[in-house]
Amino acid sequence: MFRIAVMVSGNGTNLQTIINKIEEGYLKKAKIVVVISSNKKAYALQRAEKYGIPIEIKNRKDFDSMEEYDDALQKITNIYKVDFIVLAGFLSLLGEGLLDKYYNKIINIHPSLIPSFCGQGFYGIIPHRTAIEYGAKITGATVHFVWKEYDSGPIILQKSVEIMENDTPETLQERVMEEAEWQLLPKSNKTIYGRQT
Ligand code: GAR
Repeated sequence: MFRIAVMVSGNGTNLQTIINKIEEGYLKKAKIVVVISSNKKAYALQRAEKYGIPIEIKNRKDFDSMEEYDDALQKITNIYKVDFIVLAGFLSLLGEGLLDKYYNKIINIHPSLIPSFCGQGFYGIIPHRTAIEYGAKITGATVHFVWKEYDSGPIILQKSVEIMENDTPETLQERVMEEAEWQLLPKSNKTIYGRQT
């Protein structure tokens, strides 16, 4: 069984898809042992509580240094004996200690086709707004292993989504989630657990 920590900052629709796929038996080898949020008001926390999943709140701003923040996150992963970390809309940078300890055991979902519309500052609605402003005709989502630089690390899966003439950043964000993200994240989890057993 893979003991997963899901890290979130907001609504938690990607967390919900993982919960659903575990409940449905699609992700047979996974158990979410903790949800860690950077934001105490994140709706994702209510989703976790509804399923009795323990929650932890750790905001980078509450720590004097990256090292202290990194230590606090490592303590949580030790307490819950975490094997694998999923960044599901998590918007803070991770420290080197955690990244080294979980080398190629942390994955992230990003709302664009990396290497387009990614890197520092590209999160949430911003990749979608930038893609429309650029005049791109295709965008999508990417799941990748997390390395030290923003949105770097080997790509696991990608899915493209067409940008329509009348798309707004909001309509595009919604379609990228529905058509790409909510399928890619569970599928990537399954791919990885298959590889590692
Ligand atoms: C998702 O679109 C995810 O791809 C994005 O934040 C959203 C979270 O939604 N992540 C990033 O932008 C990371 N760079 P959710 O809280 O409903 O899962």
